[in-house]
Amino acid sequence: MHCIRYVTHDILWLGADDRRLALFEGVYPVPKGVSYNSYLALDEKTVLFDTVDHAVSERFFENLAHGLNGRALDYVVVQHMEPDHSATLARVLEKYPDAAVVCNAKTAAMIRQFFGADITPRALLVKEGDALPTGRHEFTFVMAPMVHWPEVMVTYDKTDKILFSADAFGTFGALNGALFADEVDFFRDYLDEARRYYCNIVGKYGAPVQTLLKKASALEPAMICPLHGFVWRRDLGDFIAKYDLWSRYEPEERGVMIAYASVYGNTENAASALACRLRDRGVQTAMFDVSVTHASEIVAAAFRFSHLVFAAPTYNGSIFVTMDALLHDLAAHALQNRTVALIENGTWAPTSGKQMRDLLGTLKNITFVEPKLTLRSALAQGQEPEIEALAEAIRETV
Ligand code: FEO
Repeated sequence: MHCIRYVTHDILWLGADDRRLALFEGVYPVPKGVSYNSYLALDEKTVLFDTVDHAVSERFFENLAHGLNGRALDYVVVQHMEPDHSATLARVLEKYPDAAVVCNAKTAAMIRQFFGADITPRALLVKEGDALPTGRHEFTFVMAPMVHWPEVMVTYDKTDKILFSADAFGTFGALNGALFADEVDFFRDYLDEARRYYCNIVGKYGAPVQTLLKKASALEPAMICPLHGFVWRRDLGDFIAKYDLWSRYEPEERGVMIAYASVYGNTENAASALACRLRDRGVQTAMFDVSVTHASEIVAAAFRFSHLVFAAPTYNGSIFVTMDALLHDLAAHALQNRTVALIENGTWAPTSGKQMRDLLGTLKNITFVEPKLTLRSALAQGQEPEIEALAEAIRETV
């Protein structure tokens, strides 16, 4: 039984959900699942836009056969070669030997690397602005390097003003039968997963995303079809605005994210005391134990809030392990434009504050709230004024 949905009267969604995947890309938990989207245009010529992950290949081939309904497949457009979208490409090319592969030169090289196949004889190599007329539709290709790999391109359907956006505008989370973002309460139920997807998958590449946003805005799409998550046909601007903020590394909310690591609860206690004093002042807070919450959630929260507090013990003369990993992760995602306060702990040689500062100081446009708070094993009697002063110094700039 097929699970096709119609995007328009002649463009079909052939994707599928994976709710069993433990870790997307081997790194990111997806407790609400993830969708792999593939699209089929049924014009005078038939065009397949990308394929899907191995995990859902059987559903996909069933959907593809049903969608084609006996017709030949004329073109396969390969927008992105990451295997969550290309793992089944080799089988598609075997099964539909007359289909031409529409891709750019970088993609052709990656197809060779992944599958050992030279697709030159059946390749239709395209570059920025090239067009593929298929009857009623005319598709044009827009290069989008590093959103999220160098070969990525997106496709614009001039006829129906549809942007096939590859990884851009995707989200974690299974579709559960819905296809359009307006079929669910996206901003209530999916925004957190969309942010976690963006920040962790594409977060490092803010400048290329900005370039793509400018190109997309000139096209004025009426619909966006990403490779993960929902199709957008209403209120596109609301989601595009989020992408604009995230890719400029601007916070969505004035508030404080407190991420702490704590071996015996004393550093946690100081972080909690600070959170209370911030709430006393009407400042919004979110707290995470970095040894408990997956780093991808904390990275996403760091993109969300304007102010960040990191609290960690000194451990083996370094930053406590889970905090050290988190800070390197934030640096790898090029986080910038934030105000940061630090709490360090050390029973005999507290140095984690300086080391956290050195690490975060390599990021662009980080303002530190001074002075850092130092614990000697635990918050001591008489340190309450220091907590109050730190809370007040943070409040002044929130
Ligand atoms: Fe969904 Fe970069 O692959």
